[in-house]
Amino acid sequence: MPWFTYRDGLLCAEGVPLARIAAEVGTPAYVYSTAALTDRYASLAEAFAGLPVLIAYAMKANANLALLRHLGSLGAGADVVSGGELQLALKAGIAPSKIIFAGVGKTRDEMRQALQAGNTGIAQFNVESEPELQMLSEVAAGLGVRAPVAIRINPDVDAKTHRKITTGKAENKFGISYRRALDVYAEAAALPGISVTGVHVHIGSQLTDLAPYEDTFIRLAELVTALRGAGHDIRRIDLGGGLGIRYDDETPPDPKLYADLVRRHIAPLGCEIALEPGRYLVGNAGLLLTRVTYVKPAEAKTFLILDAGMNDLIRPAMYEAYHRIVPVKEPVSGAETAPVDIVGPVCETGDTFAEGRPMPPVEQGELLAILSAGAYSSAMASMYNARPLAPEVMVHGDRFAITRRRPSIEDMTALETLPAWFSEAKA
Ligand code: LLP
Repeated sequence: MPWFTYRDGLLCAEGVPLARIAAEVGTPAYVYSTAALTDRYASLAEAFAGLPVLIAYAMKANANLALLRHLGSLGAGADVVSGGELQLALKAGIAPSKIIFAGVGKTRDEMRQALQAGNTGIAQFNVESEPELQMLSEVAAGLGVRAPVAIRINPDVDAKTHRKITTGKAENKFGISYRRALDVYAEAAALPGISVTGVHVHIGSQLTDLAPYEDTFIRLAELVTALRGAGHDIRRIDLGGGLGIRYDDETPPDPKLYADLVRRHIAPLGCEIALEPGRYLVGNAGLLLTRVTYVKPAEAKTFLILDAGMNDLIRPAMYEAYHRIVPVKEPVSGAETAPVDIVGPVCETGDTFAEGRPMPPVEQGELLAILSAGAYSSAMASMYNARPLAPEVMVHGDRFAITRRRPSIEDMTALETLPAWFSEAKA
C-alpha cells in the first residue's frame, strides 16, 4: 500500500508521520488517506470507462462525512440502507439522483424521506420483498409520486466468502428468489405508485473469486431478457458490491477483469449500470493507530495489550477477520519475530486482534498500526465499556485534519437524562 509506507524509519500516511498524529490526536485513532480513496475510485471508474455506470458507494462501509464528501467530489453516488445514511449522503452533497436505497427493512418513514429527498426523490429503491413493495406502493401513491424500483433478486449463488457476509444463497434473508421473479415483477407492475425499471443483485462481500459473479451475471442477463419478453421495461441493472481487497495474502480480482465480465454479460443488454462497492473503495485507505499499553508475559504466551479494543474494531472478534498489524517504528531488517497475542483492554476474551501473530520485538508505549481498517471498522464501532469512539483523521499530502473528534464524557452522556423522581424529595 503506497499510501502507508515507512519513511526514515517511521510509518507515514502519505507525507505525515503517524507518530505526529498520535502526539496531536492521541490513540486509538483512525487515519484515512485521501490519495488512497482517489486511487481506488479512479481505478474502478477507469475499469468501467465507456459504460454507462454509476458508482454508488456503499456507505455502510464508512460514513465519515469528510470521506463521503471526498468520494462524492470524485463523482460517486451513494448506496444507503437507512434514513440516517440517506441524510448523511445528502449532507455530504451527494445528489438524490445518485442515491440508491437498499436494505431488507425500510420503514414507511424512511420511504417517505427518500421519495421527498431534494425535489426529485432518490434514483432507485432496491426492493427486497413483496410486503415491502406493497408498503412502498402505498407511501408513494399517498404522496402522488411513483417510486423508481429495482427488485433485488436472490440468484442462489455461493459467493464463497465468510458465512456471515454471504447474501446470495437461497437460505439468506435477502431478495426474491429468481425463480419467482416473473411473478413478482408482474405484481409490481400492477401496483400504483411503483415504476419497476430495474434489477438488483448483491451476492456477498469480500469476494476474491470472480466465478460467482459470472454465474450471477449470466443468470441476471437471462432474467432481464425474460422480463422484457413479459413486457417490463428494464432499463437499469444494479450489480451490488462485494469486490474483495487484500488483508493478508489474498489475491483479490482486478477490477478490470470484473469489468470485462460486465462488458461480456451485462453491457449488451443496453441498461444503465449501477455498482455498490464499499470495501473496495475504502478498506485499504484506512488504518487504526494504537499504542501498546502493556507487554504482558504470561505462563502460556505473551500478550500485547493495546489501547484499541473490540469496540473500536470488531471484525476479528466477529468474523475471525485477519488484519495486518505493524509497528510504527520500522523494525530493523532481519529482526527476529516471536508469536504474541495482540489484544484490547475490553473485558472479554473475544477482544483479540490476533493470536500467535509473529511480531518483531515491541515495547510498552510503542505505536502500532492495524491495517486495512478503512471499511466496516470505525463504522461498526461502539462505546462498549464506556470507551469513547476513536477519532477519525484524514490525511492529504503532508497535511492532516481531525474529521471526527474524540467524544468527551459529556458528549458520551449527552443523550441521557436522570428520571425526575431521583431528585424529588423523599416523602
Ligand atoms: N450492496 C449491498 C446490498 C450490501 O449489502 C453491501 C454490503 C454492499 C453493497 C457493499 O459490499 P462491499 O463492496 O463492501 O463488499 N461487516 C462486514 C461486511 C458486511 C457487508 C454488508 N453488505 C465485514 O466487516 O466484513
